[in-house]
Amino acid sequence: MPAIACDVTVLEHQRLTDTIRLMTVNWPRRDMPPKAGQFFMLRCWPADVAPVLSRPISLHSYDPAMGTVQFLYEVRGKGTEKLAALEPGGTLSLVGPSGNGFDLAAAQGKKVALVGGGIGTAPLYQLAKELCAAGTKPDYYCGFRDEPYGVEKFAPLCGKVQLATDSGRFGFHGFVTQLLRPEEYDLVLCCGPEPMMRAVAALCEEKGTACQVSLERKMACGIGACLGCTCHTSTGGRCVCKEGPVFDSKEVFGA
Ligand code: FES
Repeated sequence: MPAIACDVTVLEHQRLTDTIRLMTVNWPRRDMPPKAGQFFMLRCWPADVAPVLSRPISLHSYDPAMGTVQFLYEVRGKGTEKLAALEPGGTLSLVGPSGNGFDLAAAQGKKVALVGGGIGTAPLYQLAKELCAAGTKPDYYCGFRDEPYGVEKFAPLCGKVQLATDSGRFGFHGFVTQLLRPEEYDLVLCCGPEPMMRAVAALCEEKGTACQVSLERKMACGIGACLGCTCHTSTGGRCVCKEGPVFDSKEVFGA
């Protein structure tokens, strides 16, 4: 289904930590339900005002009953600073939903682990909801530098919930990859910093466990037109925005 452009209204905007925000907006197209791993291009400033590019932000949660979508994002530049300044009642321009999302058919009847790092945990909440609704209760492994966010709401949707922090102030002191045993799973679904995803992919490959990863790239058009977000894969260059952002880990991180 092609992405659409529309203006939506900010219904709620919460500050979870110094740099993490949770924004809820109305989604007027119930006939176009966004799915886990897809993203939207967000903008709340005029086209002739910097920054030039809209911000790609992944879907955190879609609530079909309420007709709302949520974005969990990190404030780390001019664009997200402008987004963070939006108050409830403010208008946000969206283009989306874009991208392929996670392949849930591959998870049917399987033992599944979700592995997230930092703001890369954002799309995993919608993913946990969709898996749960399809009868698969995943385990959840998450890693943060220090203060975690959004972990508690995974508990009702997941079996095991394992937390690691670099600081050691919360959960296991170390990397989330030290907690994961891929041999216990048929499929690992992963989103986070690229070094973490590469490490997860390598562990999965070693143990013969299938792994999907969600890549992050700077994006200009977000619809496959500018070729600015190309990544190298085993079958050649592919657009992260249109042909991803979710790929089989062997395609993008394979030897
Ligand atoms: Fe333009 Fe992906 S951002 S092709």
